[in-house]
Amino acid sequence: KYEKAYFMPPVLSYDWVTKDYIDKAPYWCSVDLRDGNQALVEPMSLEEKIEFFQLLVDIGFKEIEVGFPAASETEYNFIRTIIEKNMIPEDVTIQVLTQAREHIIKRTFEALKGAPHAVVHLYNSTSVAQREQVFGKSKEEIKQLAISGAKLLKELGDKTDGNFSFQYSPESFPGTEVDFALEICNAVLDIWKPTQDKKAIINIPTTVENAMPHVFASQVEYISKNLKYRENVVISIHPHNDRGSGVCDAELSLLAGADRIEGTLFGNGERTGNVDIITVAMNMYSHGVDPKLDFGNMPKICETYERLTRMRVYERSPYAGELVFTAFSGSHQDAIAKGMKWREEKGERIWSVPYLPIDPKDIGREYESDVIRINSQSGKGGVSYILKQNFGLSLPEKMKEEVGYFIKNVSDREHKELSPGLIYQVFEEKYVHNA
Ligand code: KIV
Ligand code: ZN
Repeated sequence: KYEKAYFMPPVLSYDWVTKDYIDKAPYWCSVDLRDGNQALVEPMSLEEKIEFFQLLVDIGFKEIEVGFPAASETEYNFIRTIIEKNMIPEDVTIQVLTQAREHIIKRTFEALKGAPHAVVHLYNSTSVAQREQVFGKSKEEIKQLAISGAKLLKELGDKTDGNFSFQYSPESFPGTEVDFALEICNAVLDIWKPTQDKKAIINIPTTVENAMPHVFASQVEYISKNLKYRENVVISIHPHNDRGSGVCDAELSLLAGADRIEGTLFGNGERTGNVDIITVAMNMYSHGVDPKLDFGNMPKICETYERLTRMRVYERSPYAGELVFTAFSGSHQDAIAKGMKWREEKGERIWSVPYLPIDPKDIGREYESDVIRINSQSGKGGVSYILKQNFGLSLPEKMKEEVGYFIKNVSDREHKELSPGLIYQVFEEKYVHNA
């Protein structure tokens, strides 16, 4: 029933496999307010979009796709509001999405009236499946659709006072012949004729992720190496996560020549979501490279995201989930405690504490309450750590084992985690009142 539906580029180099890390921050574009929002059970209200926009600005996004103005009144009004109320900081560029259809493009430009600068993002579907099943159009007709959309963008863009630049996406790229996608992108660029002062963006989406990450990255490499006006074009990628590899697609594509990433916080977006920008950025951070996004207050980011999207941050979501720094098991707790002590004694600068990929404090998490937690898997070290840390109670070395086992057995019998308060209560009943 299934077979591979992607196309390998005609020439493969894989030069980039020799690179082992991303050495500089890409341009980041948040599509939370467009791709993320359109996939929500209950899309955000105007006020919620405004608060989310502010969150993205605070994190440090300089490019934000704010919506699809022709899609709904809320989308349109939101864009009008942030323009009319001067809510867009000078150094932030908003981006809006439009299909390659005349009335939609015109409505999009109406929505942008008065914006000092913006990116108008044009797309049309190019895959074999969409050409045959949805549009009933030939390759040439699909190319002409992109060309006429590109011409109208240029014509309307030339008439506005704002400084608008343009982006094109061959939507459904993964099911499109790579050479054909390249041909359309080049045809669009021939209309826009980008320059150093007015660059264009070519955005390569994995609309539905259907290939392994190195396949997508080699497609990106091929497009990047064969695109016209390359020095005046920003190559953007827009990974989705259908195979669970959105982050890998993003990282390999950056190695393979992409300059920019479109994605969302926590990977919200259509179906399994868009690529999670937090993970890509924090992966770079853990290699010592400044991602130029600030996730120093992750608890606040999680709280705002959950409240506005009515989605949940998964407990094991990289860098952000409630449990991602927690050790219940005795051997892990012991190693972490020793690692922290070693680090303190040596005055070590470079982070190498076992079992903790980064210092939880860097994203506003507490070592004290987040890391060592007690259940039936825990050891003596964890219990004495909690008693000392929370209640200033230093157990004599000889007592640690007995108290540790006694308390973890309570957790085992009752089948639950023991909070610091409960640990103290159990300790007090057994060793103080019954002494
Ligand atoms: O996933 C996709 O292909 C898109 C395009 C509109 C870029 O969201
Ligand atoms: Zn998308």
